[in-house]
Amino acid sequence: MTRKHWFFVLALLALMALALAACGGSSSATQAPAQEEAAPAEKATEAPEEKETEEAEEAGGEEDLVKKGEELFNQNPLGSNAGCVTCHSLEPGVQLVGPSLAGIATTAAERVPGMSAEEYIRQSILEPNAYVVEGFPEGLMPAYTDLSPEQVDALVAFLMTLK
Ligand code: HEC
Repeated sequence: MTRKHWFFVLALLALMALALAACGGSSSATQAPAQEEAAPAEKATEAPEEKETEEAEEAGGEEDLVKKGEELFNQNPLGSNAGCVTCHSLEPGVQLVGPSLAGIATTAAERVPGMSAEEYIRQSILEPNAYVVEGFPEGLMPAYTDLSPEQVDALVAFLMTLK
């Protein structure tokens, strides 16, 4: 073989080595995504049954009303506003955006002379600016005027248990 031939053979070998390296690289890159497709597509089976029983319970006395009130209190959002829980803790002394409502049934009785605790709580929900708790700005708590009278009753009944 001549020198020219050797050169040709070497060049060919070099090309093959390059081609192999490229293949090796790309084949390992194409293998990875194949596994990801095995994700399970379940989760579409949730029964929307709860609502009706909740409403049927409404006539079921004070205890149910309190329970419903507690649920509403923890619901977020509530109607078209942020839920009560976003601003009110039920732990004594824990101030979020608004005052803690621990013991509110007791506090409420003393807020406005001549107004019962129940009336005061109801007013706090529907007209929060009628009486503004000292140390808090007016207009921060939204008025929950889009709640039904039953929902307001339930919230009041729940808060009246926090003595
Ligand atoms: C965006 C925050 C915010 C949300 C949401 C909120 N509140 Fe308030 N709330 C306040 C602030 C601030 C005050 C104190 C100022 C005032 O009296 O308006 C307050 C005051 C009160 C008071 C009077 C407390 C007292 O010590 O006299 C009651 C009762 C009350 N809120 C109940 C509720 C209930 C029930 C909900 C849900 C239906 C609710 N709040 C949602 C901010 C909020």
